[in-house]
Amino acid sequence: MKARKPLVAGNWKMNGDIVSNEQLFTALRADLGRASVPQVEVVVCPPYPYLGQAAAWLGDTGIAWGAQDVSALPNGAYTGDVSASMLVDLGCQWAIVGHSERRQLAGETDEQVAAKVSMCMTHGVGVIACIGETLEEREAGRTEAVLGRQVDAIVAALLDPARPLPAERVVLAYEPVWAIGTGRTASPEMAQAAHRFVRERLAQQGYRHAGATRILYGGSVKAANAAGLFAMPDVDGGLIGGASLVADDFLAICRAAAGA
Ligand code: 13P
Repeated sequence: MKARKPLVAGNWKMNGDIVSNEQLFTALRADLGRASVPQVEVVVCPPYPYLGQAAAWLGDTGIAWGAQDVSALPNGAYTGDVSASMLVDLGCQWAIVGHSERRQLAGETDEQVAAKVSMCMTHGVGVIACIGETLEEREAGRTEAVLGRQVDAIVAALLDPARPLPAERVVLAYEPVWAIGTGRTASPEMAQAAHRFVRERLAQQGYRHAGATRILYGGSVKAANAAGLFAMPDVDGGLIGGASLVADDFLAICRAAAGA
């Protein structure tokens, strides 16, 4: 057993509808209700319009739910954005920030990601901050430079003494961009090397909870490869895209994390 409690988060991305969500929630409730997998923390992140549905279906289970993004700003004339205080209002415990799809498609910068981390800290929303290199960056030997830069921005936010967030509410997710939705997973050894680098970087930058911080792996995690990845000493669970939409697959991944 690892000292850090494994965490598995499902990032549904822009998928789902009321009827299919209900089927998924029903299956998760049946299998992951409070008693069954206490060794793993499970978070489900549907699109914003379905957060209320997640609250209704998961509120009385041990399964937490979260948002896929949050605004870096408190409130005001920002059409389409959702603030951290609104998430708290709904009872939402977690937010993913800095996903590579937002970095790439919405042009989010490291500074904006850091501001989102700060906003979560201000409001006590647990944060799952994503980092990861593109294929081009990996092939150019720049993986550590990119991860280091992304981690440094996040740590700068985490070190703000005015907004302490307990270590168990700070999660990083290493998601190599080339592995997302491609079926091409990092090998357990590649994931471990990146996770070890990230943990060391957190410590070097002065984040004193580096050893307690969960670092998730994301990118084509499936039931078949989850156990191998989660067995690595610095891999503390997963951020799951496609496979989180299929109840049996997601539950199998949760069990793999529980057994790691
Ligand atoms: P896939 O599991 O579909 O590759 O997506 C990973 C991801 O981006 C999770 O945030």
